[in-house]
Amino acid sequence: MEVIIQESAQAASLLAASFFSRLIRRKADAVLGLATGRTPLLLYAELARLHREEGLDFSRVTAFNLDEYLSLGPGHPASYARFMKEKLFDHINISPGQTFIPNGLAENIPEECARYEKMIRDKGGIDLQVLGLGVNGHIGFNEPSSSLASRTRIKTLSRSTIRANADDFGGEDKVPRHVLTMGVGTVLDSRRCLVLAFGSSKAEAVAGMIEGPVTAGLPASALQLHPSVVVILDRPAAARLKATEYYEWVYSHKPEWQS
Ligand code: GLP
Repeated sequence: MEVIIQESAQAASLLAASFFSRLIRRKADAVLGLATGRTPLLLYAELARLHREEGLDFSRVTAFNLDEYLSLGPGHPASYARFMKEKLFDHINISPGQTFIPNGLAENIPEECARYEKMIRDKGGIDLQVLGLGVNGHIGFNEPSSSLASRTRIKTLSRSTIRANADDFGGEDKVPRHVLTMGVGTVLDSRRCLVLAFGSSKAEAVAGMIEGPVTAGLPASALQLHPSVVVILDRPAAARLKATEYYEWVYSHKPEWQS
């Protein structure tokens, strides 16, 4: 894993955006894996700016989102479909037919999950998957105890995730208990993963993901098995890491050709 520590979430997000812009300029029909939550908001704002002010062209890009709440359609204000439209898709020139998210309204859930996996495969797989991190170490909605080989499927949210996302719904009791999410195995199939984590509430999960054992108890730790992961943190999120000095040393010696 390449661990990059920045002085602020803003600086980290600008750096993250540069990974996307370089990819899209090199490969116009790139397949992006996108995430929701508060963490990627500054990244999405920067991608919108790059499109508006520097002509970053998303017209041939495809995007797959990690997850969606079960039984919420795109019209629901807390659905991830709505989130993506408002925070990113409405501000770039991606074709609406090229943005995909699991269908929370699907009647046959196993069929919907298999269809989603097949669509990702048919597009040639995900080039760059951005990931936030749950305070309990989840990625997507792969809660602790998720199989590290899991594929897109239904999951039951943990109490801690329900609590963390309650504000989006106006109370814990209104948060759906079930979700559809890409599996850990689906995420590991991406060609490159870019993990973002900001703030002290993520410090413990970050330390487990990077320096702890690979365990289903902290699904993000499975990323240690992936050959190309970049983790971009702000200082508070990096606070529990043991080898910070080494990560900074590596980053300061990064050869130009390696980006
Ligand atoms: C949510 C999402 C994840 C997200 C994580 C962290 O529940 N399903 O994709 O990365 O939790 O959320 P936030 O970025 O708001 O801290």
